Amino acid sequence: MIGVTGSTGQLGSRIVAQLTSVPLRLIVRDPARAPSVPGASVAQAAYGEHAALLSALDGVDVLMLLSATESADRVALHKATVDAAVAAGVQRIVYTSFVGAAPGATFTFARDHWHTEEHIRSTGVDFTFLRDNMYLDFVPGFVGSDDVIRGPAGDGRVAAVARDDVAAVAARVLTGSGHNGATYDLTGPSAFTLAEAAAVLTAAWGRKVRYEAETLDEAYRSRESYGAAPWEVAGWVTSYAAIASGEMGNVSTAVADITGREPIGLEEYVGRG
Ligand SMILES: NC(=O)c1ccc[n+]([C@@H]2O[C@H](COP(=O)([O-])OP(=O)(O)OC[C@H]3O[C@@H](n4cnc5c(N)ncnc54)[C@H](OP(=O)(O)O)[C@@H]3O)[C@@H](O)[C@H]2O)c1
Repeated sequence: MIGVTGSTGQLGSRIVAQLTSVPLRLIVRDPARAPSVPGASVAQAAYGEHAALLSALDGVDVLMLLSATESADRVALHKATVDAAVAAGVQRIVYTSFVGAAPGATFTFARDHWHTEEHIRSTGVDFTFLRDNMYLDFVPGFVGSDDVIRGPAGDGRVAAVARDDVAAVAARVLTGSGHNGATYDLTGPSAFTLAEAAAVLTAAWGRKVRYEAETLDEAYRSRESYGAAPWEVAGWVTSYAAIASGEMGNVSTAVADITGREPIGLEEYVGRG
């Protein structure tokens, strides 16, 4: 039995849509919002809720653990969820991590992923880590209302990957063999600068979109007014800084290797409307 968390979200819903012919358990916070998947059972549990997770994971062999929405205590929630999975008898955990996950990663949220990966390793459970690049789906949303992309990304490149491709990989890794202990960088087919992204969006939308590189200071100051917590602002700003540093620029062949087809690039993504 495959258990999947986060199926009410953008990525998880895409994953479960591809898991129609396997025993499936959707582990959700709100069963009323669980996607409709023929034959799947639904169980209610949030990350960190030990007793609810033990019950929800009963009989689950392989767990697709989606990383939680960013929060100050996300690593603790992940660790507690992993512990519950191991206690419930889960044999393998497939976890959505982030490229360049490391304790000193420029992108502060990628540090969370490293700590979670390390915790999963420490339990001795079988695992596969899907280290996603930035979702390609977010790139059009970088454009402000004045048609300018602003961020401290310098001239760095980002090998953004579509959620659809991450989901296709996840479905194959969950149902296939030979992935135990593997860490896959999931990227798009190429890495582009934000100036190049602006040019692609200009062509697709028929209006001029441009990129203005900010300094780190400018980036923090321009986001001060949003009223977000400092850890959250740091996550937003450092996602661009990690593009500048080159930590998001490597292109991998993992999507094509695992799914048998090339990943979607930015032109194709925006061309789909
Ligand atoms: N690679 C990237 O560019 C990138 C960007 C943003 C986020 N991410 C990470 O990738 C994950 C999946 O992305 P997405 O686009 O599918 O996000 P999403 O649409 O916001 O979905 C997040 C899913 O995780 C569930 N979830 C979040 N926190 C939870 C908790 N504490 N306990 C139980 N369930 C929880 C949500 O459940 P509810 O419906 O109940 O809220 C939802 O189903 C995100 O959660 C985030 O960690 C990656």
